[in-house]
Amino acid sequence: MDIISHGHKALSTKVEADPEVLRLRREFDDFQLGRFLLENLGLNGHWTSYVLMHPERGRVTNLSSDGAPFTELESWLLDRCPIFLATQERFRIFRDLTQPLLRPGMSLASLPAGLMDDLLSLDYSTTPGVELTAIDLDPHTLREAEENYRGLRPPVEASFERRDAWQLSSSERWDLLTSNGLNIYVQDDDRCTDFYRNVAAALKPDGIFVVSFITPPEQWTAKASQDLDYQRFLFKEVVPVKWSCVRDESKTREQLGTAGFEVVTVSYDSQRMFPAVVAKKVKRG
Ligand SMILES: C[S@@+](CC[C@H](N)C(=O)[O-])C[C@H]1O[C@@H](n2cnc3c(N)ncnc32)[C@H](O)[C@@H]1O
Repeated sequence: MDIISHGHKALSTKVEADPEVLRLRREFDDFQLGRFLLENLGLNGHWTSYVLMHPERGRVTNLSSDGAPFTELESWLLDRCPIFLATQERFRIFRDLTQPLLRPGMSLASLPAGLMDDLLSLDYSTTPGVELTAIDLDPHTLREAEENYRGLRPPVEASFERRDAWQLSSSERWDLLTSNGLNIYVQDDDRCTDFYRNVAAALKPDGIFVVSFITPPEQWTAKASQDLDYQRFLFKEVVPVKWSCVRDESKTREQLGTAGFEVVTVSYDSQRMFPAVVAKKVKRG
């Protein structure tokens, strides 16, 4: 059982010669999100939530996680970095896709849940009896998901389960499962398909899977090419992050098909970086 999104042993100990890289690493060290990235080369539930909720929080208060004004680099990351903008947009696309699928009495799961913002941001006022399950391998993240749930007080029951995404050991349990931010850390295509297979087994017949993926860089249509260049430099040379496992739509369709899903829709963000898929579990002949 491995947490694959964070906790990677940080930067290599080889002597870094490039003064620009060293200068930027010091800039990352000046704010909490940056320090987490330097130390983990990825994002846990807490910092993913911080990035996703930035449009409604930090962009409004103009204050960083420690209450201080944003540094120039943190502002750039949260307000201009193409992949961060894409996941903020994708988060809202997920919400718009999931909301109309809700029915009274449904069981929903988020895997990996992180702080479960995806399910907790839905409106349950007209769908009584819904039950949520937050599944994550990181116990600290699950505690934060529970705090998030208690703070928001939605009219739904929720449980919090520590499980590895590849060892769900659940059969036909949920009507709908959402997943963002795990496959992007999985290099091996078969292992990624295996994750989708675990999800298919855990869904009820006709169950729905809402899942995102990152497309290959040559397909991106970011508005400013200098922002893409800067992102590439930051996330390859300065903080070589691990969320770099990209796949195109046809590969993702193939993987989902192999795992037992039929793709219903693929919805792209405006930069074509972080699409959201709605797929349905198909009956096996
Ligand atoms: C990038 S965050 C995404 C969280 C959430 N889906 C979101 O979009 O806000 C990745 C999450 O995956 C969890 N994780 C990493 N490896 C896992 C595994 N093998 N099984 C289950 N969860 C895992 C981490 O603890 C973390 O909460």
